Amino acid sequence: MSKPKAVIAYPVPEDVVEFVREHCDLKVLDFSKPVNLETIKDKIRDAEGMVILGLRIDDQLLDHAPKLKVASNITVGYNNCDVEAMKKRSVLCTHSPGVLDETVADFVMGLMISAARRLPELDTFTKEGKWVKGDMSELFGRDVHHSTLGIIGMGRIGEAVARRAKFGFEMDVIYYNRSRKEAVEKELGITYKPMDELLAEADFLVTLTPLTAETAHLIGERELDLMKEGSFVINASRGPVIDEEALIKALQSGKLAGAGLDVFEKEPLPKDSPLLSMKNVVTTPHIAAGTHQTMANLAWTAARSMVEVLETGTSKNIVPEMK
Ligand code: GLV
Repeated sequence: MSKPKAVIAYPVPEDVVEFVREHCDLKVLDFSKPVNLETIKDKIRDAEGMVILGLRIDDQLLDHAPKLKVASNITVGYNNCDVEAMKKRSVLCTHSPGVLDETVADFVMGLMISAARRLPELDTFTKEGKWVKGDMSELFGRDVHHSTLGIIGMGRIGEAVARRAKFGFEMDVIYYNRSRKEAVEKELGITYKPMDELLAEADFLVTLTPLTAETAHLIGERELDLMKEGSFVINASRGPVIDEEALIKALQSGKLAGAGLDVFEKEPLPKDSPLLSMKNVVTTPHIAAGTHQTMANLAWTAARSMVEVLETGTSKNIVPEMK
């Protein structure tokens, strides 16, 4: 029996490539060029399965991949996939939940501490040889421990952040989620708040929702206005969950003391973004899940899900809207 045809469209560890090769007739793309529709359209004509990261799967791409049965996201977020267009053509979409939660939660704590304690600024200051004995108060930050953390989106990553904040930093953790999570409230000692109350009480706001039509610009000018003077915004979910222009204004006016941002409305962040020249904003290149261990586990999960769909027609990692 001939093997199904597959394409790996993102660099993954060699053992993952070997695994897919055992099960599929595999094409690995050339990663010296950017992977986008233009550069890959001739290579996906007969692909039945694809392992992807960030590649937009929509009608335009699907027109070039008429045999496709499954697009398997290395990520947990799959807003790069037009699920409706895929459904119409019976192409399954899988993602990789439950793999990166702890790693991303570590990173969120890192962004929070970096922004509040101004670590990048302090690093530059020290390395530039500016450290002389004397008054250091210009460099002081804000306490993270025992402050109030407001989490919007209490999924697996939200829980992992709440656990760290509550038990590691003894923070007061409040959260908003579409549905209340009473078991989690009990287990972690956290409190549900309607969104506007949460915004008014949080010293640190962390957004951890997937990007959907409902969550796009969930945090805009009105919501930022409700926040405390001198509070912080941390985003490691998807950029468009926050209206970036409104966020920039709130940072420029001094309403917000700072921000820690791993994700942006446009990625890579344009070179002329005002965020790049703000000392009180910590920026990172959408890399919260980026440890060697977690990225390898994510690649394994996506590869296994793709092979599973090609061999059995289904996978436990098919995205919720398709189940
Ligand atoms: C990373 O951004 C992910 O969605 O897994």
